[in-house]
Amino acid sequence: MQLSHLPSHVPTPCYFYDLVLLEKTLQTVQAASSPYGYHIHYAIKANANPVLLRRISRYGLGADCVSGNEIQRALECGFPADGIVYAGVGKSDIEIEQALQRDIFCFNCESLPEIHVIDEIAGRMGKKARIAIRVNPNVDAHTHHYITTGIEENKFGIYLYDLKHVITEVLQLTHIELIGLHFHIGSQITDMSVFRGLCIRANEIQQAMKERGLLLPHINFGGGLGIDYNEPYRTPIADFKSYFATFAQFFEPEPHQQIHFELGRSIVAHCGDLLARVLYVKEGKKRKFAILDAGMNDLLRPALYQAFHKIENLSSQEPEEKYDVVGPICESADCFGKDVTLPQTHRGDLIAIHSCGAYGETMASRYNLRDLAPAIFSETEKD
Ligand SMILES: Cc1ncc(COP(=O)(O)O)c(C=O)c1O
Repeated sequence: MQLSHLPSHVPTPCYFYDLVLLEKTLQTVQAASSPYGYHIHYAIKANANPVLLRRISRYGLGADCVSGNEIQRALECGFPADGIVYAGVGKSDIEIEQALQRDIFCFNCESLPEIHVIDEIAGRMGKKARIAIRVNPNVDAHTHHYITTGIEENKFGIYLYDLKHVITEVLQLTHIELIGLHFHIGSQITDMSVFRGLCIRANEIQQAMKERGLLLPHINFGGGLGIDYNEPYRTPIADFKSYFATFAQFFEPEPHQQIHFELGRSIVAHCGDLLARVLYVKEGKKRKFAILDAGMNDLLRPALYQAFHKIENLSSQEPEEKYDVVGPICESADCFGKDVTLPQTHRGDLIAIHSCGAYGETMASRYNLRDLAPAIFSETEKD
């Protein structure tokens, strides 16, 4: 990124979104998925900024929501109710009621008690709820343990050993229509063999269901496609082609079965940077600290997952040195990178922390009563 691409006054810290890159990414998603007729739902939890959501909904994607407020935001930003899937292990009664009122496409359900509550509420409202059962397929995503969701020790989904029993119970509920199976095994997965493993497990599950005479019209493989955090300039768009081709090659759909995905990170991560200024450079005995005006409240990923983000000094071209790039918050975890090679850095320099478009702004908090970082955009919003 060059300083010349930014507005003359950058209020730091702030999230800067490249809407041109977002559009290119969406075009790539479309081109890679449409030959197979796949349905893509954007996972709103990755970034719920209305400007981004309006761009994304214009490309005809559905929405994957995990709260009543996300459903509300999705509808406000142009996603149609019949393209909304609703996941989460802890949906509240009021959220279920509102989702039924809005007639969303499908609840992705994570436990039998939850399905009983949906049945009861739908019955009270004189409705029938479309649901998919989220299956925990026991496929290891080989990613950070905080973002691995598809192995048995996770709280997510119905375990394979329970699936037969759950389906038998669900088929007896009068206000539930079972329309599909849902999977989501984790996030930031770049090894396609993991998705191949998911396809093979899904085939086995389908085969077992078929033997019981059960064919469901929808299969949802969730999200999880990773991005290149190391080289955002070299690989600004995730490998959607290989991702969809893997499912096309290894999953064996039944005739007329519709295949869904819920992609978050891969759509928005590279289009957002966190911009900050250096407040102070502090010299320790063994290391130098570049202390920024952005902190872990603005971007939690490094503190929460030890996540790597490429850091760039946009103001200096001096010889390089190593810095620990840290925030102002009284927590040792408030560190964006250790031993980061930067050109000699000074008070006032503008720093870009790259690839923060996903799970950045949405995870921000007001810890220490700090203000939320505003968002600025590469171009003004077209209506
Ligand atoms: C159920 C579900 N679907 C989709 C996603 C989006 O995943 P990603 O951002 O890795 O594509 C998540 C993320 O945690 C999720 O929990």
